[in-house]
Amino acid sequence: MSRRRPIIAIDGPVGAGKSVAARALARALGFSYLNTGAMYRAVAIAAREAGVSPEDADVEARLAPVLAAIKIKFDGESIFLNRRDVTAIVSEPEVGELASRFSAIASVRARMRELQRAAGADGGVVMEGRDIGTAIFPDAEFKFFLVADVKTRARRRFEELKKKGASIAEHEVFEQLIERDRRDSGRELAPLKRADDATEIDSTKLSIDAVVAAMKAKINARINAAKDLKRA
Ligand code: DC
Repeated sequence: MSRRRPIIAIDGPVGAGKSVAARALARALGFSYLNTGAMYRAVAIAAREAGVSPEDADVEARLAPVLAAIKIKFDGESIFLNRRDVTAIVSEPEVGELASRFSAIASVRARMRELQRAAGADGGVVMEGRDIGTAIFPDAEFKFFLVADVKTRARRRFEELKKKGASIAEHEVFEQLIERDRRDSGRELAPLKRADDATEIDSTKLSIDAVVAAMKAKINARINAAKDLKRA
């Protein structure tokens, strides 16, 4: 694959700080940013509106027209599903749950892989999700796997939801997060896991600025080493 600019893959579980770090890193590098979790959430909304449930016996057949017609567009912090602004719905906790369940289905993953590979084909992108470094761009130039202890992740998620006005108890957020980790890591297709060549960053005790600084340091070190090699 020939790309003019690199791809930076950031994977990890819920609440590890992927979105904020990925967005900040993209801004710092002048790269575009793609939140693939939001794409799975958009699929969940489209499927729900078409009356499809991930537990339907004929789920693949029922999803086929939904996936064939799906159009997902990002504009700054807004997301459009089939030309409709779904930004507010996308972050609802039930949509996250549903997205996790739909994301285990083969045709959903295949369609997302196709759209995500097209979006990253020219490089110059920070792509965030669960399987970017393992399945979508296994040849990404830079790979990070962001983790944090489960209590910290649940607290962050809870604060985020509270800010958005969601009425949910912290223990519920904690239980949902454990369940989502289990499902996303345990599924058969492209499960959440660290790529062998990814750099793991534990954000439990780090600010977002520190996480981004660690990523930039890693990227610059590799770029400088390559320059030295060229000069030698
Ligand atoms: O990042 P998020 O919480 O918005 O993602 C919602 C769900 O989508 C997540 O629980 C699993 C799925 N997902 C996935 O399977 N692969 C990705 N690359 C991104 C998200």
